[in-house]
Amino acid sequence: MTFHAIAIDGPAASGKSTLAKTLAERLGLVMVNSGAMYRAVTWKILREEIDPSDTESVIRLLDEMDIQCGHVGSLSTIRINGTDPTPFLREPEINANVSTVSAIPQVRDRLVALQRDYLKLTHVVMEGRDIGSVVFPNTPFKIYIDADPSVRDGRRSGDGEIDSVSQRDAADRSRKTAPLVVADGATKLDTSALTISGVVDAAIGILGQQGFPLPKQAPLLPNEEPPTPMRWIYWLGWMSFGAAYRTLFGLRIIGDENLIKAGPVLIASNHQSFLDPPLIGNLYKTEMVYFARKSLFTGIGKWLYPQWNAIPIDQEKPDTSSMKAAIRHLKEGWRVLIFPEGQRTLDGEICEAAPGIGMIAAKAGVPIQPVRIFGADKALPRGSGKISMARITVIVGPPILLSPEEFKAYSNKEGYLALTERIMTAIKAL
Ligand code: DC
Repeated sequence: MTFHAIAIDGPAASGKSTLAKTLAERLGLVMVNSGAMYRAVTWKILREEIDPSDTESVIRLLDEMDIQCGHVGSLSTIRINGTDPTPFLREPEINANVSTVSAIPQVRDRLVALQRDYLKLTHVVMEGRDIGSVVFPNTPFKIYIDADPSVRDGRRSGDGEIDSVSQRDAADRSRKTAPLVVADGATKLDTSALTISGVVDAAIGILGQQGFPLPKQAPLLPNEEPPTPMRWIYWLGWMSFGAAYRTLFGLRIIGDENLIKAGPVLIASNHQSFLDPPLIGNLYKTEMVYFARKSLFTGIGKWLYPQWNAIPIDQEKPDTSSMKAAIRHLKEGWRVLIFPEGQRTLDGEICEAAPGIGMIAAKAGVPIQPVRIFGADKALPRGSGKISMARITVIVGPPILLSPEEFKAYSNKEGYLALTERIMTAIKAL
């Protein structure tokens, strides 16, 4: 599989990180902040009390450094000799020295190789100074963003940072190796007079023109729930469970900004308890579709569960009719909740998934929203009818947004397994 790289370059405080982060969330990519990598190396050099202008000593230390790059969800991570330096990367000493360190060719060679390695794993949107010119010169997706110097100075001091943006720019532009330039093929975007959503809209427009396979179903603005009222019977369940969860379990929702509210979406969540389906239902203000054990559809359940949009599922054997129902509902524009593990956890750990979710996702071709529930196994454990006042947290992860070609690449047996794996990895990362 070939992965796409979106290169975003520009001077300090031009808005690269905010744009890259938002694009990563919207388009389901990993955002790599290459500046953070140069900052991390600078942090280590300063911590070892080495003078950043003593190039020989810097190179010696660099050779001994173990630099581990990865990602959690849509955000890149870095560790140096096992330590995550992220909390320290915006300190004034690092702002003051990072341009000196990043001008050393050996530092650049080492970090550029690590930056390119990301593309072996995933699609990336990478921001920096030389991403379009040196790191990924062949990518067709390049944006150079800029803003008036006064606007950029104001952004950094507005963040409470001591950072001489203009001095850093001059150093980054004039260095011999990989200076800040507008890369061949990059489209320029001036963000001085734009709001964040204006910048994102403009960037998505540019990427579309450059041929980036924007997912047709992506929740590009507006991401609002349609104003369809709930039926009273659904509302009754939704409201009662929601109120109980908030009062009894102090329900906390993290990552609400990741939630796809408009259009069809396949919600993939870990499964801890009977409390889970209405927990997910309470993330939204309009109705959605669930699955429930076949055996619950007896007595009053026979009437009530269909009212709550629950589709019966046979847990004993692969149930093709319920899988088909899930795909049909997604194609009709519903949001559908699936628990890939197919059963509630016994010990709080995430169990192995059945490949059904990968097949449903590949066949439906809609955005996938990974969600992770914590604490419901304590509030109402499997095998116990007793409720405890445990705190429940629901984390909504960045959506997995795939292009039609990517969905196609997943549409066979191995593909279903790979997509299941990808979804489970996204849930576990939350
Ligand atoms: O994006 P930033 O301000 O966090 O970057 C910090 C410094 O790192 C910047 O002044 C120059 C250097 N840098 C670089 O040389 N090449 C990159 N691709 C990214 C950053």
